[in-house]
Amino acid sequence: MRQPLIAGNWKMNGTKASVERLLAGVVGGAGSIQHSEMAVCPPFPFLQMAEQALAGSRVRLGAQNCATETLGAFTGEVAAAMLADFGCRYVIIGHSERRALYGEDEAIIAKKLVAAVAVGLTPILCVGETLEERERGDMEAVIAAQIDGIIALCGIAAFGAWELAYEPVWAIGTGKTATPAQAQEVHAFIRARLAAQDAVVAQKIRILYGGSMKGSNAPELLSQPDIDGGLIGGAALNADEFLAIARAGDAAANT
Ligand code: PGA
Repeated sequence: MRQPLIAGNWKMNGTKASVERLLAGVVGGAGSIQHSEMAVCPPFPFLQMAEQALAGSRVRLGAQNCATETLGAFTGEVAAAMLADFGCRYVIIGHSERRALYGEDEAIIAKKLVAAVAVGLTPILCVGETLEERERGDMEAVIAAQIDGIIALCGIAAFGAWELAYEPVWAIGTGKTATPAQAQEVHAFIRARLAAQDAVVAQKIRILYGGSMKGSNAPELLSQPDIDGGLIGGAALNADEFLAIARAGDAAANT
C-alpha cells in the first residue's frame, strides 16, 4: 500500500493575510490526520511564511515550478536550489497550465525534473489530456507520449524518485471530476506503461489524481487501487476541504 499524498496546488492565489489564515487552518487540523502525507504548494513569495508556519508540523512544503537552469542571469526565474533552501520537499513540474500557457514541452520539463532532483527536491510530474483529445479517442496516445517523452529524456529509473499526477485538463477548475472509474482506468494505464519498462518503479510510484477533487468526491477517488493521492487546486484554498480530503486518504489507507 502506497501512503496517500494529498498536495495542495494553490496556483496564483493568496495575500499575506489569507495565506497566514490558510496555513494556520491546515496546521491546526493536521494533527488529526493519521496516514496521509500532506503538502502545500504556495506561490513563491509565500514560501518563507509557509516554511515558518509548517515548522514542527507534519505538513510538507512544495512549490509550483522551478527554473531549468541552476543559477545566474535568468531574470524572473526561481532556481530549484532556492526552493530547497526555503524548506521545500516537492515541486510541481509540467502542470497543464504551464504546458498550455507558458509553452513547456517535454524538453523543458525534463530539464526542470533534472534540476529539481539535483538539489534533493521530489518532483510531482503532471500529465493529462484535454477534452478534445479525449473525445477524439486519443487519450491513451497523448498520455503515453507524455510519459514516453520523459522516459526517453530522463530514463525510467529516474521515475523512482518522483511522484506523478494525472490531471485531465477538462477536469481542472471546471467542477467536472473524472469519475472514479475513469480516473482509475487512466492511472492503471500509466502504471502499466511504466511497468513495461520497470515493474519495481511502477509499483512504487505514487500517482495522484487532480481535477476538481474535493471533500465530497475524494473518498471514492482515493479508494481506487491505482489512485495514491490528490493534487488539489481550488479545494486546497479552504483548510477544512483540504483536511477532509486528507481524512479521505486516511480512510482509503485503512481499507
Ligand atoms: P482543481 O485544480 O482542483 O482546482 O481542479 C487541480 C490542479 O490543477 O492541480
